Amino acid sequence: MSGYSLLIEGVSKTYRGSTRPAVDNLDLEVRPGEIFGFLGPNGAGKTTTIKMIVGLLRPDRGRITLDGCDITKDPIRAKGQIGYVPDNPDLYDRLTGIEYLNLIADVFGVPQAERKRRVHDLMDMFELGGAITDIIQSYSHGMKQKLALMGALLHDPRLFILDEPMVGLDPRASHLFKELMRKHCDRGNTVFFSTHILEVAERLCDRVGIINRGRLIACGTIEELRSLHRTDESLEDIFLELTGATTKPETNGPGLTTDREGR
Ligand SMILES: Nc1ncnc2c1ncn2[C@@H]1O[C@H](COP(=O)(O)OP(=O)(O)OP(=O)(O)O)[C@@H](O)[C@H]1O
Ligand SMILES: [Mg+2]
Repeated sequence: MSGYSLLIEGVSKTYRGSTRPAVDNLDLEVRPGEIFGFLGPNGAGKTTTIKMIVGLLRPDRGRITLDGCDITKDPIRAKGQIGYVPDNPDLYDRLTGIEYLNLIADVFGVPQAERKRRVHDLMDMFELGGAITDIIQSYSHGMKQKLALMGALLHDPRLFILDEPMVGLDPRASHLFKELMRKHCDRGNTVFFSTHILEVAERLCDRVGIINRGRLIACGTIEELRSLHRTDESLEDIFLELTGATTKPETNGPGLTTDREGR
């Protein structure tokens, strides 16, 4: 066991036909019990990284381990520990919500008694109500998002990975969801999510990583990032400075904790 929930070592990926890597020599580790926020401008490489973590894309180079299990070498065991919600969940339109959840529970081998209890709890939490017996085709975008989240949590995953999870959720659902992420982590699990909502990251994440053009340019607690800048800066100011979107000089210099021992 590595002691990390998620360990990314020297991972690179270049899409076919592209000359520039989408992810470039990425090192990152996330510990048990952490909520980790993955930030970066459009096209920075967040989704590409997430797809490699969950085994949908194969890295050209490097290694990704989940709880000590290599996603490339032992994909079934690794995937069993993951709950993943993509940026645009593709559900089975002709199934009802409950049929979808049962399908997912079958795939992950969730025992009957436990699945009943968990479906009940998740329905309570996400307030999908009677819609659970309607076909998914009739769902709004937000309802589909909720069902995808429920499906990803059914097997109580060690590692909960989400690509822009707040998109489409109404304020109440997103509030509930943020509480749920915290509770999930408090039980020793790990949450890794990408977001463009910096205030959510600032309030919720134990640590954040900022990726730009495929490279990790900063990683640490908000306080750590702040201490490397002017201490009164918001995460938004730091983000804009680091990603070069302001007129200020780029400060992706030394000291930012992209090294493994450096904090
Ligand atoms: N299937 C693909 N084929 C070729 N290039 C791709 C593909 N998917 C992404 N890319 C390129 O890889 C780079 C990283 O894209 P990625 O989707 O990982 O960014 P992102 O950080 O998730 O952006 P966003 O915030 O817009 O979701 C971009 O330059 C993008 O154009
Ligand atoms: Mg993306």
